[in-house]
Amino acid sequence: MQFKSMVISNVELSPCYFRMRMTAPQDLGTSLPGQFLMLKVTESIDPLLRRPFGLFDVGTFQAEYDETPHTYVEILYKVVGKGTRMLSALHHGDGIDLLAPLGKGFRLGEKGEEKILVGGGVGLAPLYYLAKALVAQGEKVRLFAGGRNRDDILCITEFERLGVETYVATDDGTLGEQGFVTEVLEKHLGAGQRIFACGPMPMLGAVSRMAEAHGVPCQVSLEAYMACGVGACLGCVMPGANHSDQTPDYRCVCKDGPVFDSFELKWS
Ligand SMILES: Cc1cc2nc3c(=O)[nH]c(=O)nc-3n(C[C@H](O)[C@H](O)[C@H](O)COP(=O)(O)OP(=O)(O)OC[C@H]3O[C@@H](n4cnc5c(N)ncnc54)[C@H](O)[C@@H]3O)c2cc1C
Ligand code: FES
Repeated sequence: MQFKSMVISNVELSPCYFRMRMTAPQDLGTSLPGQFLMLKVTESIDPLLRRPFGLFDVGTFQAEYDETPHTYVEILYKVVGKGTRMLSALHHGDGIDLLAPLGKGFRLGEKGEEKILVGGGVGLAPLYYLAKALVAQGEKVRLFAGGRNRDDILCITEFERLGVETYVATDDGTLGEQGFVTEVLEKHLGAGQRIFACGPMPMLGAVSRMAEAHGVPCQVSLEAYMACGVGACLGCVMPGANHSDQTPDYRCVCKDGPVFDSFELKWS
């Protein structure tokens, strides 16, 4: 659905990373972890296209002026270009136009499996709402978070407050173990687990191969350039597992995903 929303807060968490809370219609409260929204950063025509962001959190808050609970949605974003720079300049009370919820989210899996979340940089964003849903279901959840340096590791205490066991790795060793998050992950993989991953493609490819080698089911959430967000422009397609020049097999990230079983995709 398309709706007008109001910015409640827009806070810089670490250099270039912001967390923004916006008002949302009550129906958005039933959004699934892994779904995303498309946001028009300005009323003017530049940038023309909406920008996609994963749902970092959805919940309710009490307004000062009445006693009914109101719904909010949050995103966690990194400033990388014009759209996100404009977003970072928004303040409490500013209006914004949203399309949400979009795409297919994570499937939570079987009860009793250990749930392993793997996030690279801002790929951590959709994993918090997922962690909340898994914890509410009584699941044991572990988070493996990776980044270039300590500034890329966001909201870890929020996960810990949910009771999630966290492991951190940074390329430069400024927080957690030094090295790739996949190296830390590999030491903890085994039977009875299910992986949910979001982050850069090389990390997702490595996690996917590792999951296959250990026989652990794995879902990945992809990012792609998006124009429409609803399956109309085919601008966001990625090759599926059986893709070749002779037999094209494409998946539409916005409509078939952004969450896929890792075996559905071609990683080479
Ligand atoms: C389903 C989905 C969920 C996403 N969730 C989040 C999120 O939770 N938090 C977050 O910070 N970002 C997320 N992104 C990425 C985010 O949409 C882009 O960073 C944003 O659109 C950039 O807009 P911009 O105008 O600032 O940058 P632009 O000026 O458009 O581009 C700046 C730079 O960023 C690169 N870039 C832009 N868009 C993408 C993209 N989709 N994938 C890879 N590189 C890109 C460009 O190549 C360029 O180098 C998500 C993307 C998708 C498809
Ligand atoms: S963004 Fe248009 S089809 Fe996916």
